[in-house]
Amino acid sequence: MTKDRIIVALDVPTKQEALELIEKLRDQISFFKIGLQLYTAEGPEILRAVLSTGSKVWLDLKLHDIPNTVARAVESAGRLGAQMLTVHLSGGSEMIRAATTARANNMLLLGVTVLTSWTEETLREIGIASGVADQVLRLTKLGVDAGIDGVVASPHEIKPLRREFAHKMKIVVPGIRPSGAEANDQERTMSPRDALDADADYLVIGRPITAHRNPREAVDKILEELRS
Ligand code: C5P
Repeated sequence: MTKDRIIVALDVPTKQEALELIEKLRDQISFFKIGLQLYTAEGPEILRAVLSTGSKVWLDLKLHDIPNTVARAVESAGRLGAQMLTVHLSGGSEMIRAATTARANNMLLLGVTVLTSWTEETLREIGIASGVADQVLRLTKLGVDAGIDGVVASPHEIKPLRREFAHKMKIVVPGIRPSGAEANDQERTMSPRDALDADADYLVIGRPITAHRNPREAVDKILEELRS
């Protein structure tokens, strides 16, 4: 179902606000992303609380460390019951393999390619000479070869990724902006309809829903746009 392809980013400061948002979106959304802001504030308890509402959880911790440390963190996330977890593919193939080897409980491991807030200039700044598109393909190849289940990429990279890797991995896209929504700090955005048409598996949407005066209405509008 279309609504099962939307993941709402719980980018709020407290457990209470997160649970209030989940309650508002009950029967519309069943998959939520817990990112660094909320996890740093509330710890593993927030994961248990969201799971206890019957929702699925993507723990978006974007791990990037030495292989052993990442592997142990992946084990901990699996024990907590997260359905998805992210690691940075720029951590290199040894780190990625340590992560995929440590995953358990059917938890999907997603690789972050190039953040959607990045531009070519950001790559230049840290000494990477290739363009965004090439860098995304390079990192995805590293991830796929090391057994990753999916990648997080900008909606503009879906088509080249499918061309190169077909359906060897899931593609999850942030940077989704329905008509009328502000881009905020996202640089490479796309509408929900166009992203699904481009063959994304999941859309992750934050501020267009969480910062809306009426989050239910925001989700309804997005679902309407997707069905039209
Ligand atoms: O508010 P917005 O819709 O921009 O939120 C997008 C969410 O997706 C944020 O939680 C952000 O951390 C996350 N994300 C991203 N780019 C990635 C991976 C995750 O924007 N490459």
